[in-house]
Amino acid sequence: MDIQFKQLEKWFGQLQALKPLSMTVQSGEFVSLVGPSGCGKTTLLRMIAGLEEPASGAIHFGGTAVYDNSRKVNLPPQKRKIGMVFQDFALWPHMTVFENVAYGLKAAGRNKEVQEKVSEALDNVQLGSFQERYPHQLSGGQQQRVAIARAVATDPDIMLLDEPLSALDASLRDEMRILLQSLVKKLNMTAVYVTHDQSEAMAMSDRVVVMNDGKVQQTGTPEEIYQRPVNEVVASFIGKGALIQGLVTEVEDVPMLKVNADVQIPLSTSKTKGLEPHDWVHAIIRPEQVSLDTAPAEAGIRAAVETVSFLGERYEVSLTLDGSDERLFAYTPERTVPGQEVSVTVRSTIHLIQHKGGVSREETA
Ligand SMILES: Nc1ncnc2c1ncn2[C@@H]1O[C@H](COP(=O)(O)OP(=O)(O)OP(=O)(O)O)[C@@H](O)[C@H]1O
Ligand SMILES: [Mg+2]
Repeated sequence: MDIQFKQLEKWFGQLQALKPLSMTVQSGEFVSLVGPSGCGKTTLLRMIAGLEEPASGAIHFGGTAVYDNSRKVNLPPQKRKIGMVFQDFALWPHMTVFENVAYGLKAAGRNKEVQEKVSEALDNVQLGSFQERYPHQLSGGQQQRVAIARAVATDPDIMLLDEPLSALDASLRDEMRILLQSLVKKLNMTAVYVTHDQSEAMAMSDRVVVMNDGKVQQTGTPEEIYQRPVNEVVASFIGKGALIQGLVTEVEDVPMLKVNADVQIPLSTSKTKGLEPHDWVHAIIRPEQVSLDTAPAEAGIRAAVETVSFLGERYEVSLTLDGSDERLFAYTPERTVPGQEVSVTVRSTIHLIQHKGGVSREETA
């Protein structure tokens, strides 16, 4: 079932928590809302659920209005047929696992199905043998699985999740991420997933919606958002990378990004159409596009190692460029030492954002 927003807007007093938003989440799609704290993610999710009333606009599920300001339609949450999972699990402490999962079915008067649906939902989260336990007798991960079972037990078409994994430790989070992802697809649900963790959003989603300050900055596949961010906000929030400022210039017919007198990064001629010498641009350079030579070479950009972080399979290095405040990130197979002089080559695509107008295009260095 698809979800359609039409000019949806929300104010809290003087604060515009959501600027007018129009978009469609396709049926069966897994969409993440990401952005910094306070950008409006939870507010939007609560409006879909019917827990928060918008100021204006409309929300349609599968073509039918669940909220429409102009027609005074506003269905209460229990009539919207959605499943919800929250960060804090929100299980009822005085009820067993079975009773927690059965609650929504009983409330909907589906008493005949309770036994079968609860068993099925608990099997889906591998908790079939935990029916008689109380929440305090479960680990955090198990409690969150009960919350997921409760959300899917009523067969909702739409699943709304607000940071469901953020209370769990890192290894459990990975396990639960895979469980959630596969369950939502298996049950063919349309999912809206709120997280402030951009790597989680990119790993799980068909599409990512990047929000800032109540406004949608960009909507796209994880690849589009990562490779072609439309502005600085998206570029700095999504993925690791350095935002380098410079002037477009030409050296012997080769377009360059001039960072300062010493640092110039070549741009390929084939992809610089529309860029003029003296254009002021921001380039995004991801760590995987930077190679590093510990024996300083003539051709490379001179830089110094600033910090070194061991990531298991490789090292992540931050580098300061000679004679500039700019910083780059690179991955290396071997440990380098802070202060070490190196030479840097920017290898493949970098993405450029023009300072004015927010036009973006891809560049190859
Ligand atoms: N009931 C409320 N009354 C007044 N202001 C509110 C209310 N709920 C949220 N806000 C404000 O609306 C803005 C958006 O809040 P929201 O909870 O949607 O952010 P969020 O993106 O979910 O942030 P986080 O990542 O911290 O959960 C914030 O500035 C918040 O202070
Ligand atoms: Mg929130």
